[in-house]
Amino acid sequence: MNNRVEVLHGVNFDVLGRREAAHYGGLTLPELEVRVKGFARDLGLEVSFSQTNHEGEFCEYLHRAEDGADGLVLNPGAWTHYSWAIRDALEISGLPAVEVHLSAVDEREEWRRLSVIRELCLGCVQGKGIDGYRDALEMLKEDLQG
Ligand code: DQA
Repeated sequence: MNNRVEVLHGVNFDVLGRREAAHYGGLTLPELEVRVKGFARDLGLEVSFSQTNHEGEFCEYLHRAEDGADGLVLNPGAWTHYSWAIRDALEISGLPAVEVHLSAVDEREEWRRLSVIRELCLGCVQGKGIDGYRDALEMLKEDLQG
């Protein structure tokens, strides 16, 4: 059916509710996941979630991703800006992916403007808070199902 999407959260997302609400909205990760599950259900997509604070583990999620998913939504957090290991692991996964950021990374500090995964992704949604995940799922659905 081509409708299985894995959402991968990176470093510091386990404490999302303690991060600056002005940038990240003040939601906890479980609250975010409930909302994203709702978006997926509305779109007829099956969604699963993983989070880790360990870069190598994030790479291993990507290595295994094709076993259980047809597409990926990625928010690697700060790794986005410098982890060439995650960039390579995403390429190895061979799956269509959309990059998401809750905050508007291109309008914040200079160092957040580089994304090492962007060239491999169908698109990047940023600065839309949790609604950005809905946009990302729509983008993936279009790619997976036409
Ligand atoms: C983030 C933006 C990153 O720059 C930051 O390091 C994060 C969260 C976002 O969702 O806006 O951890 O990916």
